Amino acid sequence: MPLSLVDGRESGRNILGIVGSPRRNGNTDILVNKILEGARSASAVTDIIHLDEMEIMQCDGCHRCWGEGNCRWKDDMLSIYEKIAGCDVLVLGTPIYWFGPSAMMKACLDRFVYFNSPHARPMVKGKVVILAIPFEDTELGTADPLVAMFERSIEYLEMELFAMLLVPGVTRRGEVKERQEQMDLAFEVGRAAVSDPRRSDRLS
Ligand SMILES: Cc1cc2nc3c(=O)[nH]c(=O)nc-3n(C[C@H](O)[C@H](O)[C@H](O)COP(=O)(O)O)c2cc1C
Repeated sequence: MPLSLVDGRESGRNILGIVGSPRRNGNTDILVNKILEGARSASAVTDIIHLDEMEIMQCDGCHRCWGEGNCRWKDDMLSIYEKIAGCDVLVLGTPIYWFGPSAMMKACLDRFVYFNSPHARPMVKGKVVILAIPFEDTELGTADPLVAMFERSIEYLEMELFAMLLVPGVTRRGEVKERQEQMDLAFEVGRAAVSDPRRSDRLS
């Protein structure tokens, strides 16, 4: 019987997770890992970056990346650019901090100015993005400002938002593991993103 699953090694599908929480084994870390696990179940190749291990200077808008084609800062963002350019699916995970992303995720996103330059835009154009966002409040609307920021930035960069995992009501480290439905959804989103990236849902 022919295999109906997409084989990542054959199709070249690979998925990169970026964890923007300083809390190891915290809710963001667990969600991103579960998405990657789902992708691996469809034979994708996975990679993960924990931003708390990275040195990321803040973008100061010098726009050297537009002129000379590379960033003035010789920090860990250079390898992150390469990994983002090389992946098919990008998972961005951040807890909600004050109705926005964590500072480390924001620092990383600010450096996406590089991807806005004419020569680097093709590196992200059309790339599939998954968002994983845990937060303490039980009101889904608490995520609205962060969701709007991500949606507009992703659209601006001509990337494709595949799914958004919003998980309200989680506070303790690893509490998200107790949400079986959300964990199953994270797995399914990862599997589907590498199997059928045209299917796009807002999931929460
Ligand atoms: C600095 C800080 C700011 C936070 N701000 C919010 C907030 O505005 N709204 C909210 O619902 N939760 C907020 N939280 C709670 C976290 O989003 C929540 O605990 C989340 O599950 C943490 O994810 P993590 O385990 O991946 O770090 C905040 C937590 C911290 C430490």
